This record gives sequence, C-alpha cells and structure tokens, in this order.
Amino acid sequence: MAKSLKDKINEATNFIQSKRTLVPDIGIILGTGLGGLADHIQDKTVIPYNEIPYFATSTAPGHTGNLIMGMIADKKVVAMQGRFHTYEGYSLEEITFPVRVMRALGIKILIESNAAGGMNRNFKAGDAMIIADHINFTGQNPLIGANDETLGSRFPDMSEPYDEKLMEIAEKIALEEGIRCHRGVYIGVSGPNFETKAEYRFFQFIGADAVGMSTVPEVIVARHSDLKVLGISCITDICIPDRLEPVDFRKVIEVANRAEPRITRLVERIIREIEV
Ligand code: HPA
Repeated sequence: MAKSLKDKINEATNFIQSKRTLVPDIGIILGTGLGGLADHIQDKTVIPYNEIPYFATSTAPGHTGNLIMGMIADKKVVAMQGRFHTYEGYSLEEITFPVRVMRALGIKILIESNAAGGMNRNFKAGDAMIIADHINFTGQNPLIGANDETLGSRFPDMSEPYDEKLMEIAEKIALEEGIRCHRGVYIGVSGPNFETKAEYRFFQFIGADAVGMSTVPEVIVARHSDLKVLGISCITDICIPDRLEPVDFRKVIEVANRAEPRITRLVERIIREIEV
C-alpha cells in the first residue's frame, strides 16, 4: 500500500532525529542568495537533502540543499539551505514536505526568505520587504487532496497568515540597523519565466508589491500546521511595467548576494529577540 503523508513525515523526522536529537523552536527557509545565514548557526549538524527520506533535491542556482540543525544565540533552529520550486518540476506536496517535517521536529515559528521582483514604486533593488500578506497565483494549492485532520484543518483560516508581532519585531530591528525595509503584499507565481509587462501591471493593479516563485505554498502548509510565520523578501529587481528592463537571473543573484549580509543580520537579530 502507498505510504501516507503522515508515514513519510514520520520516517523523515525519525531519520533527522537519529542524526541530531535537538528539538528546534524555529525553522528558517533560506532563499536565493540568502543561504549565508547558515554560517551563523553554531554547534551545527548538516544533513544533505539527498540523505533524508522523501526530500527532493535542490536544482535551483544558489540553493545548496542542506538541512542544518543548531543554535543561533540561545535559540534552537533548523534551517533549509535551499528550497524546492514548482518550476523544478516538483509537486506542491514535495515542495512543502520539509515544512511538515520541521513542524514534526518541533518548530513553532517559520521564518521565510526569498528574492522577489519589486513592483511598488517606492522600492529600490536591495531593499527588504516584510511580507504582510500574499496572493496565491500559482494556480495550485498544496492542500488539494485528502486532508489528514491530525495535520490541520480541511479549510484553514488565512485572515492573518503572517504574524503581526513578528512583523513588528522585524520592523523595529530594521529601523535600528538602518536597513531599508517595507511592508508589502507578495504574489507567488510558478515561474520559471519572469513576467511580461502586462503581468507586472496586472499584479500591481490587484494589490501586489513584490512577485516571486516560491514561499506561498510553504506558508499555506505552515498555516495549515498552525505555525507562526514571518516572511522577508529581498527586492532584487525593479519591475515597473512602463520602464521595465530585461530581468537577468545573474543580476537577481548578484543583488541578493549583496543584500545578504544585511538580511542575515536582520534575521539573526530577529531570532535573538523573539520569544518562543
Ligand atoms: N519575478 C518573479 N520572480 C522573481 C523576480 C521577478 O521579477 N525577481 C526575483 N524573483
């Protein structure tokens, strides 16, 4: 008989616990160009995704493919160095599986980071954006199919997917650190092509400030699992339709890499300050 999602989660969780007994409080997903936070994890155990049962493998550039367990300040953390995307050909169940496993390991808070195109006229490349809300424009949903009530509700509430208190902490620290930081709405698409001018215009019109190819499916599963979520985008390119320049992926990575020390500092301080 085919294994249930719960069985797979248990198998992956048992494997990880056999490598490290730490019970993490906070999960972190490190996106494009933002993997450097991994260097700030102390006393760490690094587990390559390809060793973990049912984990996919990262194929996207800038996504290393390790699960890292350890400490940041006095907090126990588990970090995904690299994530999975729809455009790699993975199902949303595969993409969001690590969120379920991190939940089973013990996390209560999920911190998401990503690179995104900025459509708000006040944004500059390299800015940070705290994700205040999102639009699922992937055309898919990770919760479609049979629902296991022990994992979460059939119809999860989405009135406040991102935790207000965590956003306030993030904003306060960004201000203290002198990091340009906005609040905005993230629209999640499947990719892999960047958007047309008409699409960027449409996304602005429907209320999005930034667009990216990840995060939304993971947040849907995190909320299904009753995790508190904080999302931070690094604005890597400016997508104002009337003056759109071709988007070059190398440039996206370059901007993310340049912003990395700032966003890493921001996330590290947030982790120090939040109460778990
Ligand atoms: N569109 C979609 N995803 C992105 C972009 C973009 O402009 N920039 C970085 N990720």
